[in-house]
Amino acid sequence: MIVVLNNKSNLNQEQFLGYQKQLEDIISDHKLVLCPSNIYLADFYLENLSLGVQNVSPYEEGAYTGEIASSQLKSLGVSYAIVGHSERRLYFHENEMDLKKKIESLLKYEIIPILCIGEMEKQDGLRVVESQLEILKAIDKNEQVIIAYEPVWAIGTGQVPTIEEVEKVISFIKGKFPQNSVIYGGSVNEENIYNLKSSLLNGYLLGGLSLKPDRLRQFLNQLDR
Ligand code: 13P
Repeated sequence: MIVVLNNKSNLNQEQFLGYQKQLEDIISDHKLVLCPSNIYLADFYLENLSLGVQNVSPYEEGAYTGEIASSQLKSLGVSYAIVGHSERRLYFHENEMDLKKKIESLLKYEIIPILCIGEMEKQDGLRVVESQLEILKAIDKNEQVIIAYEPVWAIGTGQVPTIEEVEKVISFIKGKFPQNSVIYGGSVNEENIYNLKSSLLNGYLLGGLSLKPDRLRQFLNQLDR
């Protein structure tokens, strides 16, 4: 399984350094990926986790003020990148064209894209997911993209779909992209993981829980039960 930790826009530098120290002794058979704020990428030293980012520039290195290109991320040891998180689609108006460019740029530098998809409201799951998956069809080597199903209504709300609801969407995605890994995100924690396990899932994307190392440890223990 792959467990991706999305810190979002949290932690000042002192807090990040303390947090990273708390992650030092986490041992897991699962692939753990930490996606901190970009300003801490160069502070990352953990050997038990891989390094990821929460976003990437759609452009190559050059005159794009404020953006960080895939080649630059690669030089810092980044091996995963979240793309198209609902918060970026919503607040930063990322469109499908941007996402396609981002994914292509990441693949060029051998960084694994984690494409987030998911419906806003509690209905329409399949229709939204189907249209958000369209961009993958236009991308070479798209089987390397990890697809993260994150129903927007479940993010940070404490509300989670039933495992049957999750499986319905995951089966649909796997029907279209059988070779891709598919993970679930949205209010996952050390308690509800019991109800969110499925042989169809290849992992989880954690937001709030990623910031709580003790609870994260419990989550990883539960995942193995
Ligand atoms: P929460 O786990 O806080 O709901 O966030 C999920 C998420 O958006 C991860 O990318």
